Amino acid sequence: MKSQEIRETFLTFFKQKNHQIVPSAPMVIKNDPTLMFTNAGMNQFKDLFLGNSPIKDKRIADTQKCLRVSGKHNDLEEVGVDTYHHTMFEMLGNWSFGDYFKKEAIEWAWELLVDVYKIDKNRLYFTVFEGDEEDGTPEDTEAFEIWKAILEKNGLTTDKILKANKKDNFWEMGDTGPCGPCSEIHVDIRSEEEIAKIPGKTLVNNDHPQVIEIWNLVFMEFNRMADGKLKPLPAKHVDTGMGFERLAMVLQGKKSNYDTDVFSPLTSKISSITAVPYKNTLDATLKTDVAIRVIADHVRAVAFSIADGQLPSNNGAGYVIRRILRRAIRYAYSFLNQKEAFIHQLVEVLSEQMGKFFPELVEQKTLIIQVIKEEEESFLRTLEKGITKFEDYIQQAKSKTIDGKFAFELYDTFGFPIDLTQLMATENGFHIDMPSFTHELEQQKN
Ligand code: SER
Repeated sequence: MKSQEIRETFLTFFKQKNHQIVPSAPMVIKNDPTLMFTNAGMNQFKDLFLGNSPIKDKRIADTQKCLRVSGKHNDLEEVGVDTYHHTMFEMLGNWSFGDYFKKEAIEWAWELLVDVYKIDKNRLYFTVFEGDEEDGTPEDTEAFEIWKAILEKNGLTTDKILKANKKDNFWEMGDTGPCGPCSEIHVDIRSEEEIAKIPGKTLVNNDHPQVIEIWNLVFMEFNRMADGKLKPLPAKHVDTGMGFERLAMVLQGKKSNYDTDVFSPLTSKISSITAVPYKNTLDATLKTDVAIRVIADHVRAVAFSIADGQLPSNNGAGYVIRRILRRAIRYAYSFLNQKEAFIHQLVEVLSEQMGKFFPELVEQKTLIIQVIKEEEESFLRTLEKGITKFEDYIQQAKSKTIDGKFAFELYDTFGFPIDLTQLMATENGFHIDMPSFTHELEQQKN
C-alpha cells in the first residue's frame, strides 16, 4: 500500500465512524508560551481538553505535522542513527472530546490495524498503565479488560497485554497541561526465525528497531498543574497518535522508515547528487548511511517549517530550524564529501511527493529553496575552517574535555550551534565543559 493510500485509509476509516476530518495545524506554534513547535496531534486541541474552549465537533481525525526537537519530546539525537525516529513526522490521530472513551478507541484501533490494514494480529502487543503510587493513579484495569475481550474473541491470550509504568504509559504534553494513562500498540516486524529465538513481548519498550510502538491511545483525564499535582479534567477525552512513517514501514514490509516511499525518493536523490550509494544497512557505524538519513529527515523539518512561516534565525524557533539545517549540512560535508550547497535541490522532490496533501509545500517552494540555499552557502563559508580548528584542538588536547571558551569560539565565530559541537565531541570521545560554555555565552549577552 502506497503511503498516500495509507493516509487516506486512516482518514476514511474515522470519517465512517462519524469523525470530522480537519487539516493539520501549523507545525510552528505562535500563541503558546509553553511550546515552540507542535509535538503531538493534540496540541491544537489543548484548550478543548482543558474546558477553556467550547467543543464544536465531538469527534475529530487528522494527520498532524509534528516536530520533536526541543522540550519534553526531543528525538534529535536518535535521528539518522536509528531507522525509526524523526525530527518532523506525521501523526495520524483520532479524538473524542467528552464523547467515546476507552472501549471504542481500543476496538477501532484493532479493527483498523487488523481488519483494514491487515497487520498480522500475532505480531501485535498492547501495553496498559500499571498505576503510580506517587500520583495516586490506579492501574488501568478497564483498558486491560477491553484488550482481553478482543484477544479472546480472536483466539489470542492475555500474554499479549503488558503492563507498563508512568514513564511509558502515562502521556503528558509537557511539564504542565492535559495528560492521562495510555495504552500503546507495538508491532514486531522481525523475521520468523528471530521471533522463534526471542519472543517479541520481551522486546517491547526496549529500543529494538523492529519491535516498535506504532500507536498510542491516550485517555485524557487530568491536568498536570504547575505544583506537579493532577487535577481531573472537566470531562474525559481520547487522544490517539499513530506514527505515519512507522505504519508505512510495517505495511510496506520494510525494516526501516527510510526504505518506505515516504523517504526513498529523497534518499535516492541524495545518492544521485552526491554519488554516494545508500546501502540500506541498519548499521549505525556506517556514516554515509547515517548522513543520508539525517539529510532526508532534516530537509523535511526545515522545508515544512519555512512553509509554515518560520525562517531560520539566531533565536527562538528560528534557531532550532537553523540548528537542524546546520546539522544536515555538516553531515553532508563530513561524510558525503559535499563542499557545495545541494540540500535545497531536495525540496523539488519533497514537494512533488507530499505537495498533494500539504499544498503549502508547493505554494512556498520558491521561497523554501531560496532560504535553504542561502543558509547552506552561508554556513559552508565558515564550516571548513571551524572543522579544521576543531580537529587541531582535539589532536592537541591533553584531556577529553573541550574548553567552553573554545566551544564558544566555534559558536560565535564559525556559527557552530553548541549541539553540533557536542555531536562532534561525542564522535571523537570528548565532551564539552558546558558550565564554562554557558558562562561565555552569558558574558556575551551582558
Ligand atoms: N498525544 C499522544 C502522543 O503524542 C497520542 O496522540 O503520543
